[in-house]
Amino acid sequence: MGQLSKRAISIQTMKNNEPLFACPICAQAMTVSEEGKMSCASNHSFDIAKQGYINLMHRPAGSMYSKELFEARQQIIVSGLYDTMQQTIASLIEGEAPVILDTGCGEGSHLQRICTKLENSVGVGIDIAKEGILAAAKFYEGLIWCVGDLANSPYNAQSFDTILNILSPANYEEFKRLLKPGGKVIKVVPQAGYLKELRAQAFADSEKESYSNEQTVERFKESFDRVAVTRITYTMPLEVSLVPKLLEMTPMGWHIENHKAIEISEITIDLNILVGACS
Ligand SMILES: C[S@@+](CC[C@H](N)C(=O)[O-])C[C@H]1O[C@@H](n2cnc3c(N)ncnc32)[C@H](O)[C@@H]1O
Ligand SMILES: [Zn+2]
Repeated sequence: MGQLSKRAISIQTMKNNEPLFACPICAQAMTVSEEGKMSCASNHSFDIAKQGYINLMHRPAGSMYSKELFEARQQIIVSGLYDTMQQTIASLIEGEAPVILDTGCGEGSHLQRICTKLENSVGVGIDIAKEGILAAAKFYEGLIWCVGDLANSPYNAQSFDTILNILSPANYEEFKRLLKPGGKVIKVVPQAGYLKELRAQAFADSEKESYSNEQTVERFKESFDRVAVTRITYTMPLEVSLVPKLLEMTPMGWHIENHKAIEISEITIDLNILVGACS
């Protein structure tokens, strides 16, 4: 038997998880055909792309995130800089065969690396930036990759055991709608030391030099039950070849004329992992 194409694998994976999806236009149930069309009873129809993702936006959205940015993010993540974060998140996900939605998943490496640590998980990534989802689908098979807007997400209520929201904008009302009763939100926000070596050189004396997320933490505590906050802080050596990637991986673009002037041999990760339950 020949190898299944990337598209065929995605059609199968989406078909197996059909009940998760709701039409982004009319909110009715969606079905996935053998030919790779996802459609509702009112015939709103979306094609599964040959690269293995589905675009569920009904009007295009602009994004400030480029292909180069997502490629840079991917190289940094795959280098292992976020492994401790991914391990901590995986250890917070309980239950058999958890269904996980990563909101603002970007190029998908965090979700893929978290899912490989869990048995029989179903991983679904959504991002408004098509370039991110394209990169995710290119590298990671067996997960469900969707271009979509969190403000109008293409999923049914009470579909997910865990919602991840890693360094991305959130939509708490939507998270509550999408979580199963007893489900969890895991949100990652930067803390004061996050990438401090880079910021010290890129923004000396500027207010961008430090992160403060007190308000985010407060709002999260108001929105969810039994909130727990875990801070993870560590410093890792950084290969010289990854320094430009670190500069490219955010749209604030550490806009520096001469990337070569930046010398960094180690880099600090300092993050709060917020976990909250949905009653
Ligand atoms: C800083 S990136 C983080 C990406 C990834 N979680 C990571 O840590 O590498 C923020 C992401 O949120 C996505 N995003 C912003 N607004 C969104 C929305 N309304 N719906 C879905 N994704 C959104 C962006 O396209 C971008 O990929
Ligand atoms: Zn519809």
